Amino acid sequence: MTDPFTNGFRRGAPGLVPRRRFLQLAAGAIAAAGLPALPARAELRAYSLAASPSRVKLLGAPGSPETDVWAYGGSVPGPVVRARQGERLRIALGNGLEQETTLHCHGIRLPNVMDGVPELTQAPVAKGERFTYEFDLPDAGTYWYHPHTYTTEQVGRGLKGALIVEEASPPKVDREFVWIADDWRIGDDGALSNDFNHPHDISHGGRIGNLITLNGAEVETLPVKAGERLRLRLINAANGRVFGLRFEGVEVSVIALDGHPVTPHAPADGRVVLGPGQRADLIVDIAGKPGERLAVVDDYYERFKYTFVTFAVAPGKPLRESPLDSPIALAANALAEPDAAAAVSDIVIEGGAMGGLTEAVYKGEKMGLRKLWRAHRKVWSLNGVASSGFMEDPMFRLQRGRSYRWRLKNDTVWDHPMHLHGHAFRILARNGQPAPHTPWSDTVMLHADETVDIAFVADNPGKWLFHCHVLEHHLGGMGTVIEVA
Ligand code: C2O
Ligand code: CU
Repeated sequence: MTDPFTNGFRRGAPGLVPRRRFLQLAAGAIAAAGLPALPARAELRAYSLAASPSRVKLLGAPGSPETDVWAYGGSVPGPVVRARQGERLRIALGNGLEQETTLHCHGIRLPNVMDGVPELTQAPVAKGERFTYEFDLPDAGTYWYHPHTYTTEQVGRGLKGALIVEEASPPKVDREFVWIADDWRIGDDGALSNDFNHPHDISHGGRIGNLITLNGAEVETLPVKAGERLRLRLINAANGRVFGLRFEGVEVSVIALDGHPVTPHAPADGRVVLGPGQRADLIVDIAGKPGERLAVVDDYYERFKYTFVTFAVAPGKPLRESPLDSPIALAANALAEPDAAAAVSDIVIEGGAMGGLTEAVYKGEKMGLRKLWRAHRKVWSLNGVASSGFMEDPMFRLQRGRSYRWRLKNDTVWDHPMHLHGHAFRILARNGQPAPHTPWSDTVMLHADETVDIAFVADNPGKWLFHCHVLEHHLGGMGTVIEVA
């Protein structure tokens, strides 16, 4: 079937520079909460995604050249894959690239053989071949898909898309948007820089781009109405960039993190911070007056503050005088509650530029940092081991059904969004203090020198990756495997 939701793509409203595309649900689909009731039997949603070279317009200035990218379905980001909680999803992946590939549905709790990790869970899909992924969707929320082969280059060239699992009864909003935040290293000629896996990116903050895009296009404005209630599904699909978005003149509530519902709350310090791989669902009430322009500013990297997007409030009559007062809290997903009193295992992150790493174990051999770097381009370690790929000896063998508590310790000066496959975990504590709202998550951010406690029930059998989602860090050794049996 073709993706019905790409029909909801729209260009900027008349009178605005149509540089930016917003993924939007078909008009009114959400507004009236008029979604039909869930079918009694799980329905199958079928998609096909062909990964292939494509040419798209990333640079926004009029007359600027197009860019050669790698894309799903020819577009960057790829089509929005949408299904309902409890349904079964089938995605037929076709490989039209010159390299092997796989598809990883990030954050979905699925059977191990569907996880899309080359060697570990499946043979990579060769050029010209197909592979069909099929699994149930136990959790509602905002997820995303991307390859798990040569990820620095494949994701960096544009292979990524949103995977949305709708709740049976979503909160009432006027409009919903999926926002994929991304960046690109690109020249004025429109060509992506070919310097993937640059040593500097591996040892520092990952491949940070010089062009920011929202849904694959350059920044402009989003027309809104005074009083309007929006749901934003934010996804950070960049290789290395962290986004820290401040919303001016609007009321923002965070209602889900990494797909999973959280007690609705205002963002801490007024800023929504998302590392690579992370997502946030926001309810935004447009509090501004008709004719006002309300900026969404990213000041995560202080010296590079810029306006991510601007809400342009339509002149004329407001949609409503005061914000909707219908509930915004989401129903919890059915996750097994871990025992917070479980014994603690430490995972210490070391390495990188300006770090204290002096030696690490690589493929069973202990070696000094100089050799590790020169011979193997590894510069990061987890508990003293630098990852060599996907087929490693598990760092932990976990007993199926038992609770585990991990204390992640970032002994580096860099940010690390740490991602666990196949499970959701609770974030219990940060630097020894209880974490506000103890959110469920699949990718937890550790800033320099931070310690974070997470806990989960190891209820999904198989060998699963645990790695930093700064893709160049993973390549540089920051990953491991855990086995649940
Ligand atoms: Cu989003 Cu191991 O990946
Ligand atoms: Cu990292």
